[in-house]
Amino acid sequence: MEHRNLACLKVPAVGMGTSRTFDVSSDTAIRVRRAIVNSCVASGVTFIDSSPMYGESEKVVGLALQGRRDKFQLATKVWCTGREQGAAQIARSFDLFQTGHIDVFQVHNLVDWRTHLPALESLKDEGRVGVVGITHYVAAAYSEMMDIMRTGRVGVVQVPYNLWERDCESKMLPLAEEMGIGVIVMRPLGRGEMVSGLKHQPDLAPLAGHGIHTWAQALLAWILSDHRVSVVIPATSRPERIVENAAVGQCGSLPQELREHIRKEAERCL
Ligand SMILES: NC(=O)c1ccc[n+]([C@@H]2O[C@H](COP(=O)([O-])OP(=O)(O)OC[C@H]3O[C@@H](n4cnc5c(N)ncnc54)[C@H](OP(=O)(O)O)[C@@H]3O)[C@@H](O)[C@H]2O)c1
Repeated sequence: MEHRNLACLKVPAVGMGTSRTFDVSSDTAIRVRRAIVNSCVASGVTFIDSSPMYGESEKVVGLALQGRRDKFQLATKVWCTGREQGAAQIARSFDLFQTGHIDVFQVHNLVDWRTHLPALESLKDEGRVGVVGITHYVAAAYSEMMDIMRTGRVGVVQVPYNLWERDCESKMLPLAEEMGIGVIVMRPLGRGEMVSGLKHQPDLAPLAGHGIHTWAQALLAWILSDHRVSVVIPATSRPERIVENAAVGQCGSLPQELREHIRKEAERCL
């Protein structure tokens, strides 16, 4: 697995998101999440993103990681308004993850960021948080995100980036690169719809030499071929897909003509 810079951290190029997929509560479903985490350990997918917005996700990540917290880097978010509520939600994330240290703590969708950033900065100063960040899922928020980035207060941003959502390419990614700010890519598979929505089978033959054998792998490799990206975080509810997605972390950067081939196949097949 290739590792990349994310502020002061080195993270695997392929991590895992947990929106919807880790919002489970039955014993059987939690057993499957443990199997997913086993697969993560075996494949080097050791960066996991969560949020209080994702229902049971933080709790299930904490349960699935019991006894192996040190093998992972954990990212989560604060997603509420008000200082007191923020403090309570942040404290709850540490409890649910069953940890005293959270590697990346982000303000989810910029919600009440003026209140939460100072709290996260204090935790960073105390050594309880590694990197402070901000996220948003719509391009209309990029201008405000970039204003915050320019203050030098955040070490990471999380934005969508895939063949359907390329708004970050023009200004956000260049600024992140210029300022040494890490980039976490959310929705790398367009919430799965870029795979499940295929109308034709894409031609993957030209990609085989790079170890790319499935369309999901092609989509992830397209993103990771942009060197400004630190980590992609596809979510999955199936352990075998961790292995499939992780393999892209060994492909290296694709030459421009193969990246263009993937773009054209997406246009033809989706
Ligand atoms: N505002 C924010 O901060 C924000 C917003 C959105 C997302 N995020 C973060 O970004 C993460 C990723 O985004 P996302 O979960 O919305 O979407 P995504 O990762 O683009 O897509 C997830 C879907 O892709 C499917 N999938 C995964 N690997 C696959 C493969 N190899 N082949 C076929 N299908 C595959 C999964 O289905 P199966 O379960 O069937 O495998 C799942 O339904 C989230 O989980 C969350 O951590 C943050």
